[in-house]
Amino acid sequence: MARLLSNQATAFLLLICYVGSSMGSVHFSDLKETLIVTASPKSGQVLYAGEDKITVTWKLNSSLPASTDAAYEKVKVKLCYAPVSQKDRGWRKTEDNLKKDKTCQFKITNQPYAGGGSFEYTVDRSVPTATYFVRAYVVDASDTELAYGQTTDAKKTTNLFDVVGITGHHASLDIAAGCFSAFSVVALLFFFVMEKKKAKK
Ligand SMILES: *[C@@H]1O[C@H](CO)[C@@H](O)[C@H](O)[C@H]1NC(C)=O
Repeated sequence: MARLLSNQATAFLLLICYVGSSMGSVHFSDLKETLIVTASPKSGQVLYAGEDKITVTWKLNSSLPASTDAAYEKVKVKLCYAPVSQKDRGWRKTEDNLKKDKTCQFKITNQPYAGGGSFEYTVDRSVPTATYFVRAYVVDASDTELAYGQTTDAKKTTNLFDVVGITGHHASLDIAAGCFSAFSVVALLFFFVMEKKKAKK
């Protein structure tokens, strides 16, 4: 009897924990796509982290009722991994629970919703080499996601672009630049000393 009770208690506790942990977490599949989001890169375009810019625009789909966005407070625009760059990488995995989702790891901008807008973003130096799309979430006053829009289709296969990260491409260049500047300082000192010696003679 006591055993049975403790089993029930455990089950009850687990239930409480489950309900508690999933409360306040939004699932992507519950969100409606109400925003139209565009980004400047063409399909397949290659951008360089730390250098190239992306212009993102967002607005409410005009064929929806005007009251759709009544509760929209802020927009959060993000750079997101395309499925091709998530394969075999658990740390980029898509989860329906947005608290656990790792699809969109790079912030482009957070702004008041204001019915729509645009933003020019320089691809951050921390963005690794991969294939991406842009997604915008709208949140209410309590920071809960209400809806979204994205530059790709539901399967995330169209209109994707590539970023070439800093590591690999620019690391060697940075090192070379560092060596050259160290070399030029040494060379300058050398000639300075030589000139002084000449002058003394
Ligand atoms: C806008 O919303 C309508 C109705 O939901 C939908 O059929 C249409 O595809 C949407 N337009 C765009 C560009 O997403």
